[in-house]
Amino acid sequence: MLKPHLLIPAAGVGSRMKIGYPKQYMPFVDDRNLLETTVWRLSEMSLFASVAVVVSADDAYIDHCDLPQSVRVLRCGGKTRAQSVYNGLKALELKGDEWVLVHDAARPCVSKQAICRLIERLDLGDVDGAILASPVVDTLKIVNEAGLIEQTVNRELYRSAQTPQGFHVQALIRALADRLQTATDEASAMEAVGAKIAVIDSPVSNIKVTHPDDALLAKFFLQSI
Ligand code: C5P
Repeated sequence: MLKPHLLIPAAGVGSRMKIGYPKQYMPFVDDRNLLETTVWRLSEMSLFASVAVVVSADDAYIDHCDLPQSVRVLRCGGKTRAQSVYNGLKALELKGDEWVLVHDAARPCVSKQAICRLIERLDLGDVDGAILASPVVDTLKIVNEAGLIEQTVNRELYRSAQTPQGFHVQALIRALADRLQTATDEASAMEAVGAKIAVIDSPVSNIKVTHPDDALLAKFFLQSI
């Protein structure tokens, strides 16, 4: 099976967690913080040619982290997630035709089976990229500025985008370069340049730890994986 590189952006401030320091360093499970948990889980899957983490240049916590020795720490995070990913990809100095998966530090519960399905899809060679996503289970409403429902939309047409998201390194760098302020994930930058991107079903347990309640849920999911 194809062996992509893995880049984990971890340079966010995580203000919605309201803990006074970046959420990736919040204590998580088994004496590991959130970042350590994600990096160790992904590294131990043995699916990647290399694993690198992007943190900000002034990050005061990363030196106190226990990460696998093989993991590279890139101190080049930016103001936006797209900028952190872009800087990290450039720092990796990979060839254009190599694949990279980008995965949020804040998603510790991702399933190995789902990542394998994603890599297998890239390996088929018929798409420019692939992302994990989950079906939407709630009924979806378009709501106006006054907080009133305008319309119910067909949820079958929608997916909740997750990570990892995988693309060719140089194609992703080029697509992100013009969208450093606007792209909230790699796929949105690649869509804008007309890329053909496969969507791979992934369990809803691959949540992004964003608010305090998410941390409780993620810890519960981790116990049952
Ligand atoms: O803020 P959000 O939860 O969307 O961040 C998703 C991931 O991107 C997190 O792992 C976060 O640390 C990372 N990020 C980053 N640089 C930023 C903002 C977010 O690496 N400027």
